[in-house]
Amino acid sequence: MRRVKRPLAWSLNDLASTYTVEEQIGEGVYGKVHKAKNKQEEVVALKRVKTNSNSEKEGFPITALREIQILMQLRHECIVSLKEVVCSDYERSVYLAFEYLDHDLNGLIESAGAGITPQHARSYVHQLVEGVGFMHERHYLHRDIKASNLLISRTNHLKIGDWGLARDFAPDGDGSYTNRVITLWYRPPELLLGATRCCDGYGPAIDMWSIGCILAELLAGKPILPGTTETDQLDLIIGLLGTPDAEQWPGIENLPLWDSFSLKHEEDEDDGGPVEADRKKQRKVRDRFAAFDADALDLIDKMLVYAPNDRITAKAARECAYLRDAKRPNELPTLNAHSAHEWQVRKLRRTSSSSSSKPVAAAAAGGDPPQRH
Ligand SMILES: Nc1ncnc2c1ncn2[C@@H]1O[C@H](COP(=O)(O)OP(=O)(O)OP(=O)(O)O)[C@@H](O)[C@H]1O
Ligand SMILES: [Mg+2]
Repeated sequence: MRRVKRPLAWSLNDLASTYTVEEQIGEGVYGKVHKAKNKQEEVVALKRVKTNSNSEKEGFPITALREIQILMQLRHECIVSLKEVVCSDYERSVYLAFEYLDHDLNGLIESAGAGITPQHARSYVHQLVEGVGFMHERHYLHRDIKASNLLISRTNHLKIGDWGLARDFAPDGDGSYTNRVITLWYRPPELLLGATRCCDGYGPAIDMWSIGCILAELLAGKPILPGTTETDQLDLIIGLLGTPDAEQWPGIENLPLWDSFSLKHEEDEDDGGPVEADRKKQRKVRDRFAAFDADALDLIDKMLVYAPNDRITAKAARECAYLRDAKRPNELPTLNAHSAHEWQVRKLRRTSSSSSSKPVAAAAAGGDPPQRH
């Protein structure tokens, strides 16, 4: 895909004199997002940088600084564009103004009748892999790929948003990074087992696992690994991929949490003994998703792989049969949705269920929020 070259225009305009703020479209753990229009009637998404009461002491949040710095480096048609940084003297806060997109992928998945077809799924994953490949080549990791962070335009263009957990990484370096990233349902097994260094498998492969979960979710119509705790998440992964061992995942025994994990696993066995070969859980990826398109299943099978070094890279995924045949965004049927953002769709559902006195559906946003480091 073509790389978009645009000069980055950003300044410290004042919010009140530059924008008319419209409805709220999102609310993350880290701040609210509103739709807004500037004097030229251009629509933007304004994300407030949440600062805590100690901000005078702590200064500008590192996550927002990273988000700005990284988005200044990464200009690509599959990556959301940061238009400017504005301040509000009145609230003493700072806002990031992004190009506005009508939907996010989770809002679309949760809106009944939005009309996502298998062709849409294929094109969205194709665009996601293009954007992720571009960032990985430049040595950045996103570290929170999930459906609500993937923005979709009404013309079916996908742009990767929410760069608050992203960071640069040194391939094969000896740096250490936090494993408390990526929303639980999309978090790969190496992070759940405590990987923090490149030699543990910490690198681009962590984002590729999340993409595998999203592709399967799009085709299944629901999240495939909805764990409630880190232990439960690992159990769900084992139920799908089988019991991990050093043969299929060389170096697993060196991961920080491997000892406590294998000990717990042994205790869970009836006789308290080690897991015998015939009682090991088998890989079920192909059985569970047997109804999927064969080429899509091949790709999922290469993404949901234990050993990070054996997981397919974005560069290789671009060439696979499933993505080679993806339609261009403008060749896809128009979506049947006006504005589908996760927060709006869930609010609407809560309002309609409380007005009809039905219990509110539990809508955990993909497990526990990741920490930012
Ligand atoms: N550029 C945009 N255009 C349209 N909607 C957007 C845009 N950016 C963000 N949103 C909406 O706002 C939501 C929250 O934004 P974002 O994910 O960037 O913030 P966050 O505070 O980090 O959220 P979370 O903690 O839930 O991940 C998104 O899921 C999306 O629905
Ligand atoms: Mg988000």
